[in-house]
Formats: sequence, structure tokens, C-alpha cells
Amino acid sequence: MTNIEKCRIIELPKISDARGNLTFIEANKQVPFQIQRVYYLYDVPNGAERGGHAHLELEQLIIASSGSFDVVIGDGERQKRIHLNRPSFGLYICPYIWRELDNFSSDSVCTVLASRFYDEKDYLREYEDYLSLRFSK
Ligand code: TYD
Repeated sequence: MTNIEKCRIIELPKISDARGNLTFIEANKQVPFQIQRVYYLYDVPNGAERGGHAHLELEQLIIASSGSFDVVIGDGERQKRIHLNRPSFGLYICPYIWRELDNFSSDSVCTVLASRFYDEKDYLREYEDYLSLRFSK
């Protein structure tokens, strides 16, 4: 399986009643990794782009907790644009995937569950470096 095929939309549990909806996420259950970090992007200005990097080991689940945005994922050969707009769905991203996020709606919150602590050494921020490492593996 190529890297991009390992990335997938995960439908999360949704408990609905008259008071609204509740979604939960448990490590190694709804997400296929141990969650070590959570971060979120918010107040993203109109037209801004985020991401623009890949990771060596990090696995992530990206959720539109509020509003919507697009995630463009690529593995150096193929690219997919995925629109996220529901808090009960997440996009799983495995290592060695180049990702860019754009098309943020004004009220959007992008919540990211991550398998590791923040570590700048895990980033590939130059596309050329990414491609050469990706195809040397
Ligand atoms: P970056 O990963 O470039 O953000 P994005 O993926 O949205 O483009 O991170 C932006 C800055 O925030 C950079 O200086 C690193 C810092 N940062 C942390 O300190 N901890 C974190 O968990 C994350 C994701 C970023």
C-alpha cells in the first residue's frame, strides 16, 4: 500500500440526543496510535494556508471541530484534496505525507491529535528534501 492509501477518513462515534451531539476519541481505538499531543488552529485569516511539510514519524488525526477547511495530501506521486466539515469525521495521516491546509472558513477550528510530542527534527519542511528522502526509502 502506498502512503497516500494509508491516509483515510475515520468516522468517529457520535452520541446524539435532544441536548446535542457528543463525539469522543480514545487512543488506539478510534485512532490507530497513542495520543501524545493535541493542538488546534483557529482564527485563521481568510486565504491563509497552513502546513506545507511532512513528518518522518508523526501520525495525526485532523478534525474540523468547527467550520471547514481543505487538506491536500500527497505522497510525491499522487495528491488528494479532502474537504473536512464535520466534527465527527477525522482524516488520518501517516508519516511521509506532504500536507497543505487551505480554504479555511471564518469560524473554523482545526483540531489535530498527534502521536508524538512536538519535535522540529521530525519535520521535513523543504519539498525537495521530502522527495529525496521519500524515494530513497
Ligand atoms: P507549524 O508546524 O509550522 O504549523 P502548521 O503545521 O500549522 O503550518 O508550527 C508553527 C509554529 O508553532 C512553529 O514555530 C512550531 C510551533 N509549534 C509548537 O511549538 N508546538 C506544536 O505542537 C506545533 C504543532 C507547532
